[in-house]
Amino acid sequence: MKFIKGIFSISLRLNIKIIIALFHLYREGSDVSRLLAGVLEETVCNSTNRDEQVWIEKIELLRKNLESSNTEILVEDYGAGSQYLDLASKEMNRNKIVTRTVGEICRNASKTGFWSFLLFKLIRKFGVSACLELGTCLGISTSYIAAALKLSGAGKITTLEGAESLASLASENFHKLDLDNVKIIVGRFQDTLNKVLNENGDMDFVFIDGHHDEKATLAYFEQVIPFLAERALLVLDDITWSEGMNRAWKTITEDKRIKISVDLRDIGICVLN
Ligand SMILES: C[S@@+](CC[C@H](N)C(=O)[O-])C[C@H]1O[C@@H](n2cnc3c(N)ncnc32)[C@H](O)[C@@H]1O
Repeated sequence: MKFIKGIFSISLRLNIKIIIALFHLYREGSDVSRLLAGVLEETVCNSTNRDEQVWIEKIELLRKNLESSNTEILVEDYGAGSQYLDLASKEMNRNKIVTRTVGEICRNASKTGFWSFLLFKLIRKFGVSACLELGTCLGISTSYIAAALKLSGAGKITTLEGAESLASLASENFHKLDLDNVKIIVGRFQDTLNKVLNENGDMDFVFIDGHHDEKATLAYFEQVIPFLAERALLVLDDITWSEGMNRAWKTITEDKRIKISVDLRDIGICVLN
C-alpha cells in the first residue's frame, strides 16, 4: 500500500522507469539485484527509522535555508552540467566567473530530496565504506552520503569540487551538520581525480555528478574502474541530459565490467561485475 501511494506521488515518466527497473531486478534474481530492488522500494516508500529521520530532517532544514538565501557569490562555471545556468547563459559564461545567489544554485544544482534519499539508502543497504563524489556544489548529496555512513558506523566520503566559493560553503555546511567524515578536494576533476584515487585505494561507491559531457564521463569511468572494490556501486547523474550523455550511459551499460545497470531517467546506477 505504501509503495502504491509512493509511486503515484512521483512523476509518471519516473515511476514507469522504476517499475521497469524493479521488474528487471527481480527477474535477474541475484542477491545484488534483490538488494538494489529493495533500495528502490524503500526510496519510493520513503521508509526510514527514527535515527535516519533525524539526519534527513537536519539536512533538509539546511537545504531550506540555502534555498532561501539571497547571498551572492562568485562561481567559476565548469560548462556542461552546471545546471544552475540555462543553456544560453552556459554558452556565454563557459569558463567565466559568474555571480549567482546561493538560493539559485541550491534550487537548480543540488539533488532533490528524492534522489538524495536514494543515495542515502544505497549507502545504508549496501554497507559501503569508501565513497567518492565528483561534484560537491553546496554539499547536499555529500551530506546525505556522509550521514548514511555515520549511521552505519564507518566510512568516509571524499568529494571533489572545482569552484572554490562552493567548496568553501560546502565545508561550512559539513561543519554545521557535524559531519567529520567528509574530505573536500578543491580543483578540476581532470587535475584532482587521479591523485585522489591513488591515495585512497579501492572505492565502494562513486557518484559522478558534474562535467556531464560524453567524453569526460567516459574518461572518468575508465579512470575510476581500476579503483573500484568488488561489488562497488557507480552512480551517474544526468544520464539523459544530452545526446552525448545518453551515448555515454549506453556505452557504460554495455561494458563487460558492469554486472547490473539501472536506468532511472535522471540517475543511472551500475554494480561492478
Ligand atoms: C550538479 S552540481 C553537484 C550537486 C551535488 N552533487 C548535490 O547534489 O548536492 C555539479 C558540481 O560539479 C562542479 N563541476 C563541474 N565540472 C567540474 C570539473 N570539471 N571539475 C571540478 N568541478 C566541476 C560544479 O562546479 C558543480 O558545483
